[in-house]
Amino acid sequence: MKFSCGTRFTFLILFLFAAQSVHVFAGSFHKDVQIHWGNGRGKVRDRDGKLLSLSLDKSSGSGFQSTQEFLYGKAEVQMKLVPGNSAGTVTTFYLKSPGTTWDEIDFEFLGNLSGHPITLHTNVYTRGSGDKEQQFHLWFDPTVNFHTYCITWNPQRIIFTVDGIPIREFKNSESIGVPFPKNQPMRQYASLWEAEHWATRGGLEKTDWSKAPFTAFYRNYNVEGCVWANGKSSCPANSPWFTQKLNLDEEKKMKWAQSKYMVYNYCTDKRRFPRGVPAVCT
Ligand SMILES: *[C@@H]1O[C@H](CO)[C@@H](O)[C@H](O)[C@H]1NC(C)=O
Repeated sequence: MKFSCGTRFTFLILFLFAAQSVHVFAGSFHKDVQIHWGNGRGKVRDRDGKLLSLSLDKSSGSGFQSTQEFLYGKAEVQMKLVPGNSAGTVTTFYLKSPGTTWDEIDFEFLGNLSGHPITLHTNVYTRGSGDKEQQFHLWFDPTVNFHTYCITWNPQRIIFTVDGIPIREFKNSESIGVPFPKNQPMRQYASLWEAEHWATRGGLEKTDWSKAPFTAFYRNYNVEGCVWANGKSSCPANSPWFTQKLNLDEEKKMKWAQSKYMVYNYCTDKRRFPRGVPAVCT
């Protein structure tokens, strides 16, 4: 077939249409979140609501939360973290239910001195109890470019991915008596805050406030799930995340990420669990 201008034009239209449809479900910070904390320190940066920044100075951090609550879903965003000396700062993207026996699924990035690795801290809380930390030093510097972080939460498992690579899977192990988050709807939250004592090994490195304000960027927000309203949840039709599991290739990638980049795993912390690591680990 010889391409005429017309054919090429048709291809262009098809391409634009395909590109468009990929983004149909991508969210907008204008309508999907509220900047609920920080008194102007959190800002949507563009008209389409694709880019948002959070900042932190000596008097306050900032944060946003999803307008909707979800019971199962997929929360994905791109983040570019505080560059340079970010010691004592924590940048987060997580899901959490309210109350004193809450459930929570966390990505938290612990800042560090210039040239030292940022720690990606992950945790899962069920009924108010966490203690399931796994930490990573990533295979790239997360302050240089945007990278994609995603939490998939369905009835069988929670999967954490970084640029599409699974780094952690928390399986539903209720059959052996391990609680799994399954009946408390969660909101998606993000924040940039100061946690000098927690995030720098007991305040070992001090936050350098002469570098403030610290700023982190969030882009291409895409959170979808079974929306919770009036005491019940409704799931969108045909949601791959609802039954998502790891295929062999993804299992292999996760092994790679964990064997090379995991720097802490509660499952192997015998000092902390002298009577044996939690059942979910084995
Ligand atoms: C900061 O970097 C050092 C290595 O230089 C590392 O041992 C430490 O865990 C890092 N701290 C945080 C909070 O990530």
